[in-house]
Amino acid sequence: MTAKRLGVGFVGSGFNARFHIQAFQAVRDADVLGVWSPNNKHAADTAALAHRLGVGAAKAYPSIAAMVADSAIDALWLCGPNHTRIENVEEIVDAVRSGKGALVGIACEKPLARNVAEATRVHDLVQGAGLKHGYLENQAFAPQVVEGHALLWARGASLTGRPYLARAAEEHSGPHMPWFWRGELQGGGVLNDMMCHSVLVVRHLLTKPGAPLSSLTPQRITAHIASLKWSRPEYAKRLQQLMGKDVDYTKHPAEDFASVTIEFEADDGHTVLGEATTSWSFVGAGLRLSAELLGPEYSMAWNTLDSGLKLFFSREVRGKAGEDLVEKQNAEIGLMPVVANEAAAYGYEAEDRHFVRVFLGKEAPLLTFDDGLDVVKLLMTAYQSAEQGKTLDFPPKGLDAFVPAVARGTWKP
Ligand SMILES: NC(=O)c1ccc[n+]([C@@H]2O[C@H](COP(=O)([O-])OP(=O)(O)OC[C@H]3O[C@@H](n4cnc5c(N)ncnc54)[C@H](O)[C@@H]3O)[C@@H](O)[C@H]2O)c1
Repeated sequence: MTAKRLGVGFVGSGFNARFHIQAFQAVRDADVLGVWSPNNKHAADTAALAHRLGVGAAKAYPSIAAMVADSAIDALWLCGPNHTRIENVEEIVDAVRSGKGALVGIACEKPLARNVAEATRVHDLVQGAGLKHGYLENQAFAPQVVEGHALLWARGASLTGRPYLARAAEEHSGPHMPWFWRGELQGGGVLNDMMCHSVLVVRHLLTKPGAPLSSLTPQRITAHIASLKWSRPEYAKRLQQLMGKDVDYTKHPAEDFASVTIEFEADDGHTVLGEATTSWSFVGAGLRLSAELLGPEYSMAWNTLDSGLKLFFSREVRGKAGEDLVEKQNAEIGLMPVVANEAAAYGYEAEDRHFVRVFLGKEAPLLTFDDGLDVVKLLMTAYQSAEQGKTLDFPPKGLDAFVPAVARGTWKP
């Protein structure tokens, strides 16, 4: 890389890649120059979005290797489905190792991979190729989380003692694409898909600003999973009609609710708790992200549906269904919250700005693949705990080779 700007390529051209491309409008020193997806038309459409938004002269590439080989591309954002992580990373690392192309770094969406063995492989491949790495957990960069975390620690914790309890939840009515619903492709159900956010958010909130997440050591984990809605016969049928014949929750359900409690030992000697719940069975206006942090004389509360903008449509307004008010929107009439600039509110803008600056050598990474791997270890321990119905010491036996029953297609709710 010679210029002071970062040339960014996207692997994957779906929902998440498009969110990042919107966020790049708020990133000054990068250009979105490439998109690869197995469907060339989808890649071209997403490249066209980058043009329309003025974030870079993106083009669609015929392969990941071809994108790496282009000297204009300095870094990749990995936004493919979870089951393609390893093949994507192998292709990138092969291209770099064989000298076909050079990269500075890779940023990878959550989860780093479907289980500990796969996440370790992703981590080791990228580390072994000498590339910088960033783990994309947008919620740690959400403006309210950043401000709340900084202010509680600066004013409350410094005078009255560290926080002792963090709570986080991510809830919506279910994912938008069939592969998310299929345990073997996605790696699990909602625990894998969404608790990756919440376990990192609680650990982050409980961590002193500037200290690494490793200053809190997980000690014990208790988790619970359930299929509350989507394996009911009428909803299993509806889900199959929406998502296709391979999504059959009468035979291979995945959990649509998960909760976990993680006991951490902080390096100051305190025991602190992180509590998270996630669900695909939540029906409200749309996606609800929430978090709390509590200490001896202070607390914070964040809820993305308390958005500061509400619209009301009477029953006479019978428009078509959409997601123009809020992600995973469930209604178009009545009193509806609107999340203005979701890419900023959910943290994508600040996250992308940060990792661009990391890859340009201007900042140290706040989250790396080491953190992504840690998240997968916590999630897999949570599945083990839920399967065994008991609290487990961390790390439990057999963690490295563990694959959840949901991902093996053998889970019976
Ligand atoms: N941070 C967040 O809140 C958030 C939100 C949504 C998704 N995600 C993550 O982003 C990733 C993508 O999710 P999405 O919602 O965009 O899914 P999606 O199904 O909407 O898009 C996936 C994209 O990957 C492409 N693809 C298909 N096969 C591929 C392959 N072999 N290699 C690479 N790409 C391939 C598809 O064509 C599509 O463009 C997932 O890992 C998901 O967990 C994160």
